[in-house]
Amino acid sequence: MGISIITLIVSVLLFSLLARILSYQRTLHLFSWNPTYRRGFFILGLLSLSIPLTIILERSNSGWDSSPPIITSVLLLLVLIPAAVLYYHFRPIQRRIALKPLLVLTERRGAFGISDHAILWRSLQKEKTSVRLTEKIDGNEMLIKEDTPSRSHVIILKDLIPGTQYSYSIDSLDGISGSFSTCGESLRLAIVSDAHIGSSKRSLNTTKRIIQTIIGREDSFDLLLNLGDIVQMGNLKGNYEAASNVLLPLSKHLPSIMVPGNHDAWVGGLNSWKDAYYPKRLNSELRTHQLFHHYRPLEGVHIITLDLEWGTENFSKAQRHWLTEQLSTIAKDDMLIVASHAFFFGSGRVVDSRAWFDPMKMIDTFHPLFRDNHVNLVLSGHNHQFEHMKEDGIDYVIVGTFGGRLEKRITHRSSASIFLDHTHHGFAELSIDRSQYSLIFRNLKDEEIYRFSSRPR
Ligand SMILES: [Fe+2]
Ligand SMILES: [Fe+2]
Repeated sequence: MGISIITLIVSVLLFSLLARILSYQRTLHLFSWNPTYRRGFFILGLLSLSIPLTIILERSNSGWDSSPPIITSVLLLLVLIPAAVLYYHFRPIQRRIALKPLLVLTERRGAFGISDHAILWRSLQKEKTSVRLTEKIDGNEMLIKEDTPSRSHVIILKDLIPGTQYSYSIDSLDGISGSFSTCGESLRLAIVSDAHIGSSKRSLNTTKRIIQTIIGREDSFDLLLNLGDIVQMGNLKGNYEAASNVLLPLSKHLPSIMVPGNHDAWVGGLNSWKDAYYPKRLNSELRTHQLFHHYRPLEGVHIITLDLEWGTENFSKAQRHWLTEQLSTIAKDDMLIVASHAFFFGSGRVVDSRAWFDPMKMIDTFHPLFRDNHVNLVLSGHNHQFEHMKEDGIDYVIVGTFGGRLEKRITHRSSASIFLDHTHHGFAELSIDRSQYSLIFRNLKDEEIYRFSSRPR
């Protein structure tokens, strides 16, 4: 009787784990893009229902006190192994994590015309702390205090002065301090995507080398644009903790714009992504849309980030309305950049009978909108390659090379493709001034792979 009861209990555990996984909206997106996962999930669901029924019927016929047939051990294995594997990958109860400081750009513009910044971090215990912000040249100092104790810390750095060097230190985090410069006349961005931290040691080392290259540059960057898949398993909080440690040398000095990817957000991972990169406190302070943003880092330069993790799944009517409204407010001769994790044009291959190249839904939904609203440059990740495409005068770029395994085989070249490389990891460097912008793909060692320049249309 013992083994029958154990099998019943494990079946119930497996079923509740599957129900929890299915309760997240983004699980359906994962299944729609990955039929293998969908089929596997369906089979496990069937097992977790049919095995207990079989056991209950058999025991009712044979009597609960009689010895169970040998097959019961096989049934136990059939539910025990997947239950253990699923539990390991999708733990419903996870330990609390601490996250290191991250300097982010916000959408709000301060009194001197540039974006307010914010410092975000998480502590294990609730605490109330303060940040000391110093203007480097004239030594002006400001103490910014938190109002209430919290684990999620958000310190807004308001009304920063353009082209100025600042340093800061966090009172409760001994030894963690940072420094940064605000944008002046021009803007230089480092663009990265698809680190997949948590996937393997090899990709982690690659990501660390790229970070060292970016922070080692003499002509330093003003901004980091991180286009998602920062972690491999967004459902595991530990992956976010590892990402926070790896990014720290960069994240404490270079103001970042973070965009969620499909790996970051799947199976409940979006909650951890928001905790790390767009916590509730920041959202309520700025009162902005949480996952679609319009940044103005410099007069005449706009960066609009969209939450497109796999494709158009999350793009609702309300979001279309928001985007159309934002685009309509931008002057025609301003520089307009759109960024998302999922790509629009792009070379790739067929994966699980889905085309991972030139996704027609993305192109049909967004390209006319971009073309009619004078978008200049569209930046994405998702496919692990460097690629530059051009369509109707718009530069489309994919830069999914921050550490994740590079695309091995590309069988379909995008109709808009001009340059494609899937043999190097690295990052992209984007320089913008009023009259033109240029973008360079760079490898781990900072060597140039490809470059192009364009004038805003
Ligand atoms: Fe990726
Ligand atoms: Fe992705």
